[in-house]
Amino acid sequence: MGTLASKMALERGFTVSEIDERLYGSFIEHLGRAVYGGIYEPEHSRADDAGFRTDVLEMVKELRVPIVRYPGGNFVSGYNWEDGVGPVAERPVRRDLAWQTTEPNWIGTNEFALWAKRAQSEVMMAINLGTRGPDEARNLVEYCNHQSGSYWSDLRVKHGVKDPHKFKVWCLGNEMDGPWQIGHKTALEYGRIACESAKVMKWVDPSIELVACGSSNRQMPTFPEWEATVLEHTYDHVEYISLHNYYGNRDGDTANFLARSLDMDAFIRSVIATCDYVKAKKRSKKTMYLSFDEWNVWFHSNEADTLLPPWSVAPPLLEDLYTFEDALVVGTLLITLVRHADRIKMASLAQLVNVIAPIMTKTGGGSWRQTIFYPFAHMSQFGRGVVLHTPTTGPMYDCKDFTDVPYLESVSVWNEAEQQLTIFAVNRHLEETLRLECDLGDFSSYKLLEHIAMTSENLKSRNTLENPDAVIPVRQTGASKEGRVLTVPLSAASWNVIRLTGK
Ligand code: AHR
Repeated sequence: MGTLASKMALERGFTVSEIDERLYGSFIEHLGRAVYGGIYEPEHSRADDAGFRTDVLEMVKELRVPIVRYPGGNFVSGYNWEDGVGPVAERPVRRDLAWQTTEPNWIGTNEFALWAKRAQSEVMMAINLGTRGPDEARNLVEYCNHQSGSYWSDLRVKHGVKDPHKFKVWCLGNEMDGPWQIGHKTALEYGRIACESAKVMKWVDPSIELVACGSSNRQMPTFPEWEATVLEHTYDHVEYISLHNYYGNRDGDTANFLARSLDMDAFIRSVIATCDYVKAKKRSKKTMYLSFDEWNVWFHSNEADTLLPPWSVAPPLLEDLYTFEDALVVGTLLITLVRHADRIKMASLAQLVNVIAPIMTKTGGGSWRQTIFYPFAHMSQFGRGVVLHTPTTGPMYDCKDFTDVPYLESVSVWNEAEQQLTIFAVNRHLEETLRLECDLGDFSSYKLLEHIAMTSENLKSRNTLENPDAVIPVRQTGASKEGRVLTVPLSAASWNVIRLTGK
């Protein structure tokens, strides 16, 4: 083992927060092959009675995704939800201006609700505040959530769906600060329409929770003034403000790319500070929570997308093929989200199938798990319980955009009911093993259950349909425990899951 070492100290009393399982949410947009050729392909040999691909459903269930955002994204800002309900043969074919494709409307609200049920997920519904407003939003809430006895709820019943969907979480539009958005607005314009939509939606169903649009990313020129103004108008009517951010390695600088989670951390801290500023200004008792409802690595497909001709149905847009190094970054981003579980209650890995996704399919063919599938699956499975405040010390490095980047990125989660303690860790060092020394404190009676890791000789390795297991997690040996100190070697450039049990 090399000489590089990091130390951490665990105590069960030092809790940050219970983790809301909706932190492991994801996203399906009417975009590219996410819906058509992704979750839905009625001619496929593995399609079920509703036309959903069961190979995809099985992988989604493996990820244990508790909530899926739908139907967009940029798509929602030009979407008429009425186009997607009722007899499929009577639904209009539309031009989707957001992605310059043709939308056949074979799948809409009721079909997606059925898919989500089969995937064991809830739906996080988004409304169109680009071309539409409070009226269509309140109608949609009535259609989805009201039992019967009113125009829109009776229409749902007529469409064959007797019981209301009872969607709990609703997004008030999408990325309304972005000039690319259909119906882009100033913060004042958006704050007002979001407030008025929120009011009528909650008058239809007071049990719903609402997410106001925050900035599209941390580099937006209007950030964080956008959040401050939007919250001035919506603070009393919404429960969450959204954050979106994607990360890439366009200049091939891996050390810098691996440090991108520090940028996410700074973004989260600034949004919390802005929420608390508005709270103070309003003398409010209410705490605003965060919904990081679009995050991932996204850059591989950018160029290829510009070459696709417009107006086809379900073209292969945003089909990033992820490398091992992307999986390490996704691991650090997940760790960062979980460390903020006291304020981030929901997050969506964007997206779930084919479009910047952990799950890929070949239309008419097989499917496979991308490299980023594994850190997400591990955290979603083992990262439930309370986050522990875990003081950590160790060596750091400097790179192009960041200083003092710790080689070790980690978070620990204690599941008291299961008596399981899990440490998630990334070693950012590209050449050296990092010796992790954990003082287990009052967990000293816990035993090591397993150490799983993902490593690769080649940072650019990918899983493909032909070679789906090029990069997969493997059980490690080499950890040892002496007294209350657990020592675990973390290989150079590795994703690690260290599981301990009190049983
Ligand atoms: O997830 C892809 C796109 O990224 C979404 O449609 C949009 O909200 C964001 O810009």
